[in-house]
Amino acid sequence: MVDRKFVVTPWEVTGEVDYERLIRDFGTQPIVGPLAKRLEGILSDAAYLVRRQVFFSHRDLNVVLDDHDKGKGFFLYTGRGPSGPMHIGHILSFYFTKWLQDKFHVNVYIQMTDDEKFLEEKRSLTYEDTQKWGQDNILEFDPDETFIFQDTEFVGHAYPMILKIARRINYSTAKSVFGFTGETNIGMSFYPAIQILPSLFEKKRCLIPSAIDQDPYWRIQRDIAEPLGFHKAAAIHSKFLPPLTGIQDKMSSSKPETAIYLNDDNKTVRNKIYRHAFSGGQASIEEHRKLGGNPVIDVPFQWLYMFFEPDDKRIEEIRSEYKGGRMLTGDLKDILVEKVTKFLREHRERREKARAQVHLFKKDGALAREMWKHDFSKS
Ligand code: TYM
Repeated sequence: MVDRKFVVTPWEVTGEVDYERLIRDFGTQPIVGPLAKRLEGILSDAAYLVRRQVFFSHRDLNVVLDDHDKGKGFFLYTGRGPSGPMHIGHILSFYFTKWLQDKFHVNVYIQMTDDEKFLEEKRSLTYEDTQKWGQDNILEFDPDETFIFQDTEFVGHAYPMILKIARRINYSTAKSVFGFTGETNIGMSFYPAIQILPSLFEKKRCLIPSAIDQDPYWRIQRDIAEPLGFHKAAAIHSKFLPPLTGIQDKMSSSKPETAIYLNDDNKTVRNKIYRHAFSGGQASIEEHRKLGGNPVIDVPFQWLYMFFEPDDKRIEEIRSEYKGGRMLTGDLKDILVEKVTKFLREHRERREKARAQVHLFKKDGALAREMWKHDFSKS
């Protein structure tokens, strides 16, 4: 989606995103009314993410929930392009996926697209860089009941199925959906077949949590899945956790001041938030006490609202104290520092556990390869 004021594609997010406009232009559905209530009922502790419209849009989510109720089952698929250290924006989809897995006990597949990040020329990553980040990023995931795979290791085996997908996508579709030009390398125009592949890993419906930038792939998937004998993918989309530096654009792995990385230590977290977090507060304390702050453009407030403060009563208290000028910018930043530091401490403990288990990913990968070989050659 390219608009005068904002751009959202799988490779670029700039400007201030108008999410209602995206729903119209991408042709997705808002998560509202009975569907929102149904999902909130399922998610319990994570329901605030739906109530607050952080996960705000979908494709066929109701169909997936019906499939589940009828005993047909479904599976979950999400992914990461290992272009650098993972940041706090990435965790939205991954934690959401984990919550869904805990509720439904279904298989989860996580694709590490080292190939995609190598092909994206503007990133200037060497092949070795993408391998290094792939191995690093893999540790951020919980290995239980999850199959994580890196494209360059896995793809050989899946090649027959990738070819079947690729043959059904013509270049004018790829060009209009992704904006490829004469200068785009041919690897990029083939790559969508690879990101579509995991949505066909089982003969059940696939539900894909991601931010809305990844939706263009699912639009193509939905045109080709049924002729190939599979289900159209369902998707659930989140908004973007805004960069620390302001509510425009997207956090970037290559601009450290815009993001908090999952491996930032406590001191770095504090420094980044105090120095770079864009504030909706007034220029002086006196003015702030008189006029109050603006939570709509205040990044610490938005981060608390979108992820770090699940308690509705508490978040409304913070909003009203801040708007009323009783809570200062520094107080709000203190709250965020404490929440982010605690979250990262717990996440790091899980990461250390993952490091000890990393060989299991490999073993599971090998098993899964055998398991799927048969299906791929048949379909
Ligand atoms: P990547 O590595 O750019 O992003 C990984 C996931 O994080 C989401 N995301 C965000 N969510 C909230 N706030 C942000 N600021 C933010 N930035 C990124 C992305 O939407 C994504 O869900 N091509 C993909 C990798 C991939 C994939 C998938 C992603 C392969 N298969 C299936 C989702 C689902 C990529 O480069 O993601």
